[in-house]
Amino acid sequence: MKDGNPSTIYLKNYTQSNFLIEKTDLKFELNDEISFVTSNLVVRKNLHVPNVDPTLMLHGNKNLQLLWIEVDGVRLEDDSFHKTDTDLSIPNMPDSFELSIKVSIKPQENTTMMGLYRSRTMFCTQCEAEGFRSITYFLDRPDVMSEYTTTIVADSQRYPILLSNGNLIDEGTLKDGKHYAIWNDPHKKPSYLFALVAGSLSFVEDSFKTMSGRNVALKIFVEEKDLDKCTYAMDALKRSMRWDEEKYGREYDLDIFMIVAVDDFNMGAMENKGLNIFNTSAVLVNPEISTDAAFQRVEAIVAHEYFHNWSGNRVTCRDWFQLSLKEGFTVFRDAQFSSDMNSSVVKRIEDVNFLRDHQFAEDSGPMAHSVQPDSYIEINNFYTVTIYEKGAEVVGMYHTLLGEDKFREATDLYFNRHDGSAATVEDFVVAMEDVSGRNLNQFRRWYSQAGTPVVTVKSHYDAANRSYRLDFSQNCPDTPNQKNKKPFLIPIKLGLVSPDGEDIGLNIDRENEVIFELSEINDSISFDNIDSRPVPSLLRGFSAPVKLVYEYSKEELSHLASHDSDGFSRWDAGNRLYNMVLLDYVDSLSKGHEPLKDDYVISVFSSILDDQTIEPAVAALMLQIPSDKALYGLLSKIDPHYVSKARKFARVMLNEALNENIYSKYNQLCFDKAFLPSAEQIGERSLKNTLLSYIVLDKSNGLKTVYDQFQSATNMTDKTSALNLLINHDKDDTYASSALADFYCQYKNENLVVNLWLQLQATNQQPGGLSRVQSLMEHESFTIKNPNKVRSLIGSFASGNHFNFHDKLGTGYEFLGEQILKLNTLNPQVAARLVTPLTRWSDYEEPYANLMKKQLKVIKASPGLVSDVYEVVTKSL
Ligand code: TRP
Ligand code: ZN
Repeated sequence: MKDGNPSTIYLKNYTQSNFLIEKTDLKFELNDEISFVTSNLVVRKNLHVPNVDPTLMLHGNKNLQLLWIEVDGVRLEDDSFHKTDTDLSIPNMPDSFELSIKVSIKPQENTTMMGLYRSRTMFCTQCEAEGFRSITYFLDRPDVMSEYTTTIVADSQRYPILLSNGNLIDEGTLKDGKHYAIWNDPHKKPSYLFALVAGSLSFVEDSFKTMSGRNVALKIFVEEKDLDKCTYAMDALKRSMRWDEEKYGREYDLDIFMIVAVDDFNMGAMENKGLNIFNTSAVLVNPEISTDAAFQRVEAIVAHEYFHNWSGNRVTCRDWFQLSLKEGFTVFRDAQFSSDMNSSVVKRIEDVNFLRDHQFAEDSGPMAHSVQPDSYIEINNFYTVTIYEKGAEVVGMYHTLLGEDKFREATDLYFNRHDGSAATVEDFVVAMEDVSGRNLNQFRRWYSQAGTPVVTVKSHYDAANRSYRLDFSQNCPDTPNQKNKKPFLIPIKLGLVSPDGEDIGLNIDRENEVIFELSEINDSISFDNIDSRPVPSLLRGFSAPVKLVYEYSKEELSHLASHDSDGFSRWDAGNRLYNMVLLDYVDSLSKGHEPLKDDYVISVFSSILDDQTIEPAVAALMLQIPSDKALYGLLSKIDPHYVSKARKFARVMLNEALNENIYSKYNQLCFDKAFLPSAEQIGERSLKNTLLSYIVLDKSNGLKTVYDQFQSATNMTDKTSALNLLINHDKDDTYASSALADFYCQYKNENLVVNLWLQLQATNQQPGGLSRVQSLMEHESFTIKNPNKVRSLIGSFASGNHFNFHDKLGTGYEFLGEQILKLNTLNPQVAARLVTPLTRWSDYEEPYANLMKKQLKVIKASPGLVSDVYEVVTKSL
């Protein structure tokens, strides 16, 4: 900090560490009051650095209580080192030496969930990105990689299970009812991958035989009450291990792989070497308590953390500016996995929806940053949709440009070349270049330029010459501190659809699809022998993270929505049509006009309802109109109330026009199969509940049908979908309040279900939302100390209850501001994430924009802001 304000870190200032730590020997003495951490470090000067500064600077934290320091066994006097709130420096160090430090800490008082802290009855850790420095003084940077040996001493009754990374090498009992365990991790790693867990835990066990024939023990540790919720995660883990061998040739490298579930956790999960720590919400599922979405999330996150063993751990990041090197690549890998396990079209549509709703919004707001940022104040604020999801799209574009085989060759080269070291984004690009023989200089701009490129396309058909030309142009809007961007290399997968709905052969090989590489600001592609004007199917499979503008007519979109051979583009065409119509509705409503019925939308819906060949999951997605958030992204100024009215109008229109078809399809889907979280059943339930969301609008019988489903549901998806519709639509409260009460009564001992119950109420769009949320904050099931509770109630209200959060008096914003300030010191990471909805103020109409801005100013003026909140608030004002 400088002048009391947190300072900015720049990529351009990166320098290597002047010292390296070869071996790290840690001893933890865990107690209720004061815990002790003793470290023994084998340190040497970094020979790669010329004229090494002999001052050793270790990262620390103000909560560390320093007890003593020894260099080569000699105790240091107080005046031979210098300590501040953030570091410890010792001058004049020799070329190599042994450094021992003892500190004390109080994990039970640590509410930040970084470093060593307590979750319910256990001790656990979270070290990424910079949590290790609140455990002990250390070179807490990812390019300092060390071999760890960890001794844990704790009470044997209360903490029978003692875990750390690697292999257990010794354990035994001690006096005073204590015991110990010693773990060694033979793989060098940065401190952010360190983990420790101590508690009274139960576990399920399995094993996996690797491709070279080694046996790996697999264990999932949970509280005893949760033992019945581990089967699916274990299965997903084994499938991930096999898949990474088959798809990427990557084998697991320790004799044991452990997952621990903890209730208090800032994010989804963490890939600590050999000892993944998971938010309970990202690992515990079973058919009685979990929705299909929860099963899919568990599968994806288990895979994601497992895949990090190679993309992140074996090959790690040189510094935090390289974060997307591991996160973007690993998201790409987990998306490939999910798409292989389920339906690839469905997975792609869901991912693109998510990218458009969240990443495009981030890219056009005050927190916009490139996939490789060039500066940050607080690294915790950069675990973003841009680093993760846009980063994954960038990796996907190599896959598109190089093709499957070359891409695999390049990842092999990357893994082999950088195994055991800390790499950069540049290393990844070079591996792609070396294998493909291409110069990817222009492609590199995807890492350095923020903002979503806009690609505009115009078509020209020359009937006399039977030729067809597409003219492309690109531009990328300015983003904070970045103006006048250079053109990107954009792979655009495209096809042409004939008037009778067939793909047209595009070249002499009669290929139906080509990848046009747009690299100039303006460029064109032409096709010959085109008999009649085709409809262009552009950006198939969403081949690049861009906004594509083409003036389709409604006829053309309807045509693609029923005929495009690319499943993604078929959905996207429908989606474009719905957007077009809904934006028109928003416009009419804001001018005080009644919107008009749209026959194109109705006919697309009707043909999907009649289509017997379409996958149910895809049909469900095509029968959903765009979300509020999706429409916000298309409006120059947002009034949430008109958007919500426009959507309501469209849904009522569709239900009135197609009521009979909707009911009959719904009834066809109401059968009772034994529950499976399979792609097929998940798709059927998704379609069924999408239909129910129209049925609820039926004045005569809607609510009753929904209530019947609520009562007779035999799985959590059907039950909570019905509950959600009931509370959002039951104006007279005939069914809603008793359904909510019954539901709570039935599930009050299942924490994850209670969180869902909180979330459903937090997003209830009926008037009075804020006071409902305020009273739920007093409910026995809520505590502001648990991040999952905060996300379920406060986070969902602010980001998902558009109608109530945005009220004309700004009371929703004031409420959010108060909660952010409560969390400011309690949990800085969670507090900073809650600010996101307010950062988008300039996208809104008045009075919303000003009221949001005012609230940001209130937060900014509050004393004692942590760097996390400070950064987001100052950048968005
Ligand atoms: N690296 C983790 C992942 O993406 C996420 C992570 C980063 C995290 N920082 C964290 C999780 C802090 C919890 C707390 O898999
Ligand atoms: Zn990750």
